[in-house]
Order: sequence, then C-alpha cells, then structure tokens
Amino acid sequence: METLAKWKIRIKDLLDSTEYDIPVILRGWVKTRRGSKKFSFVEVNDGSTLHNIQVIADCNLPNYSDIEKLTAGCSIRVEGKLVKSPAKGQNVEVQADKISVYGWADPEKYPLQKKATSREFLRQIAHLRPRTKTFGAVFRVRNILACAVHKFFQDRGFVYVHTPIITSSDCEGGAEMFQVSTLDYDNPPVKDGIVDFSQDFFGKSAKLTVSGQLEGELFATALMDIYTFGPTFRAENSQTPRHLAEFWMVEPEMAFCDFEENIILAEDFLKYILNYVLENCEEDLLFLGKRNEVDVLKQLKKVVDSQFNKITYTEAVELLKNSGKSFEYPADWGKDLQTEHEKYLAEEKFHGPVVVTDFPKEIKAFYMRLNDDEKTMRAMDILLPGIGEIIGGSQREERLDFLQDRIKEMGFNEDDYWWYLDIRRFGTVPHAGFGVGFERVLQFVTGMSNIRDVIPFPRVPNNAEF
Ligand code: 4AD
Ligand code: MG
Repeated sequence: METLAKWKIRIKDLLDSTEYDIPVILRGWVKTRRGSKKFSFVEVNDGSTLHNIQVIADCNLPNYSDIEKLTAGCSIRVEGKLVKSPAKGQNVEVQADKISVYGWADPEKYPLQKKATSREFLRQIAHLRPRTKTFGAVFRVRNILACAVHKFFQDRGFVYVHTPIITSSDCEGGAEMFQVSTLDYDNPPVKDGIVDFSQDFFGKSAKLTVSGQLEGELFATALMDIYTFGPTFRAENSQTPRHLAEFWMVEPEMAFCDFEENIILAEDFLKYILNYVLENCEEDLLFLGKRNEVDVLKQLKKVVDSQFNKITYTEAVELLKNSGKSFEYPADWGKDLQTEHEKYLAEEKFHGPVVVTDFPKEIKAFYMRLNDDEKTMRAMDILLPGIGEIIGGSQREERLDFLQDRIKEMGFNEDDYWWYLDIRRFGTVPHAGFGVGFERVLQFVTGMSNIRDVIPFPRVPNNAEF
C-alpha cells in the first residue's frame, strides 16, 4: 500500500525553501493578478501563512486567456518551478508551466475585495472571513493555542476527559441554560399546569451544559488529574465584547489537591500556553499586534515573566473603595466584582495578572469549599489586563454534610445531585480545579478587541448564522 510521505506541500513550506530550481505543485486562492499581454503575476495564498507566493505565468501558456481573467477568490492549481526571486521582499517565486482553475469567483459578487472591510461586516460573512489575512492569522494562532493546552496537560500526566454536552444538572447556578427538547413547542404535554418533561426525549428536562466540571470531578476522583476541553453554553443576554453564548472552556480537575496548589497550577498553565504561542506563532502575532495596535508580544512576555499578584476579595473591595475612582457600580462587600473593577485591579493597580481569592459564598457556585469563617469560599478568579476575568476556579467542597447543606440553601433538589454526592460518600478526597475561557485567552493573545472575532462562528443573542 502506498502512503503519503508528507501531506500536501504548502505555500509556507515553499516560501521557507532553501532549495531552488525544483519542480513544485501548489494549490490555493488567488489574491490578486496583475500583468501585461506577456506575463501575469498571480499572488496565491493557501492559508498556511500570512504571505502569498508569486506565480509568474507566461503568455505562451495554452490557457493564458483564462489566466488573464483570474481575480481574487478564484481557486487554482499550479505546476511549475520554484526559483529564487529577484524581487524585493520575497525569497522565492514560481514560474508556472501549467495553471488550472478549480473554481471562478465573480469579481462583481465576491465580497472580499482589496478595499478595507470592517470587522462588523466580516462577521456577516463569517463563512469567508478565514480567507482574510487577519482571520487566517487568528485561527492559526487558535490552533496552536489548543495544541499548547493539550501539551501542557499531557506532559504532566493529566487525562483528557470528554464530558457530556447535554446534561440534566446545573453547575454554576442561575437560570442561564439552553433547553434541549424534542417536544412540540406549539402543543407541549402539560401536567399540573407545567410542561411535562417526563414525556420529552430524555424523560426529564435536559439542557446544554454550562461547564464540564461536575462530571470532571467524577473522573478526577478516579483517574487523579484530568482536564476537559470543549464547548460550553450560556443563555445569558450579555451583549459585551467578552461574552459568547457558546464558548470553549478548559477545565482541569485535580484530586488530592488543595487551594494553593490549584493557584500554582493555574499560573503555570497560563504562562506555559502564552509562552508556547510566543514561540510558535511569532509572525502571525506580530501582524495581529500591528493590525490591532496592541504590542501583543510585549504583553505576552510581560505575563510570562511576571509573578501573579494575590489578594483576597475583601482586600480587593477595600482597594476599590479607596481607589478614588467613581465606578458605574460602586464596589461593596457581598457584591460580585464588575468588569470595571477587574480592569482597575489588573490595569491600574497591579499592572499585571491578579489572583483574587476567598469570595463571599452568596455570589459563588454551590460546589465550592466553605472557609472556616463560614462566610467566604475557597474560590479564585484570575484577572488579566485588558480582559478582566480569564479563569475561575476553586477548591471543591469534599465534606458530604457541608455540601448537602449548601445544596439545600441554594434551593436545589438533592436528588438531582445524587451521583455528585456519592463521590463524597465513597472515598472522598480534597480536590480542586479551574475553568479557563479559551476565547478570552485568545483575545489576550491576539489583541482582538471583540470575542466574536476569535471563534470561527460566534453564537450570541440574535445570531446563530452559519
Ligand atoms: O467562572 P466560570 O463560570 O467557572 C466555571 O464554569 C467553573 N465550572 C470552572 C471550574 O472551576 N472548573 O467560567 C470559567 C471561565 C471564566 O473565567 C471566563 O474566562 C469564561 O469561562 N467564560 C466565558 N467566556 C466567554 N463567554 C462567556 N459567556 C463566558 N462565561 C465564562
Ligand atoms: Mg467566573
């Protein structure tokens, strides 16, 4: 059986070539064509790099009249010779022996023309925006960032767990879940005046998960150190540049692990993945930094080299109160930190990452471990300049009776969590973990100001196109 020694040659490989006068085949999409009756210069890109390769087509090619009609967006295959380029700004170019056209792109209709296009407009054509320089770069960086996530955990013996997307339990609390149902909305079965979900597909009310954590805990208390990395869903109506209704979360969970170790891991993790993209995506990041007018390389290096600042929630509230700033929502003990507070702490007060710990129990989820003061929980948020909260985590409540009390206090039904309580009944252990908003990290890495521009197809209120 034949095997492919190497998958397709990409334009990136050709541009990096140190061999010349060798036969090559390339495929890609035309960016521009200019030329004369004698020659055409066709700029081609295949998404493997920011840079185009220049193909030179001689008028003696049998289909030269076709080549003269090439415009942005057409897809072609080129056979030719890779030669050292005499032109400035490029190492090599290709002298074409044969150019065939896979598909035309009507220049009257193709929306990606040379003229500058706004990010808002590109969101409306999200099926085509990966062909632009900016979005090509963003999604190559996204790929490397995902690779870094796996590498970090795999190198440390963590087991990747695929937690369910459909769930019947709420992890974070609050009414922010999407219902999953096959019931007839026009005529749902009703019992005692409410919809009878026992007749629904799953025999009960089912939702899209807001977090893989609860199931992650079940696996951590069997396989020790695990992580999840998958899509999560929140039906909150937040029209902000930092919120998506569907986003990807990385959630490690460690058995026999306490609060301090959890923070150390989170700090190591963030520094590792940021450094990994620095080392593997420098060119794309330089380009994105220029486009977004943010020195992303400097910003990333700064976090990688920093020591994260640590303060308690109580200290944070004091700092905010004494800041002399007038916030839209004044900080007050017992109220959640707002984005404006997070930004003040990370940007103006500490000029770098901040870990805020020990939040009041009223504003955090039910599963967190209660501190001895019985008022605060072993919870932490990590804040980054320009972004605000990027990580949320905690040590989990491993004491059965405390957890049962908390579930009651929150008005949840204990029976819904029987399996979650069972791991406290059978061989319970201290354990902890955190959740990382993957797109928020990517925003920080690329300097893209809107979270909708770092996920292939953003899902937000009033938009689920594509
Ligand atoms: O702080 P959150 O809600 O924590 C959890 O879900 C825990 N179960 C995590 C854990 O301990 N295993 O969410 C974690 C992170 C946030 O810090 C934020 O970066 C991101 O997920 N996030 C969002 N990202 C984009 N759009 C949204 N609507 C987001 N909500 C949270
Ligand atoms: Mg949070």
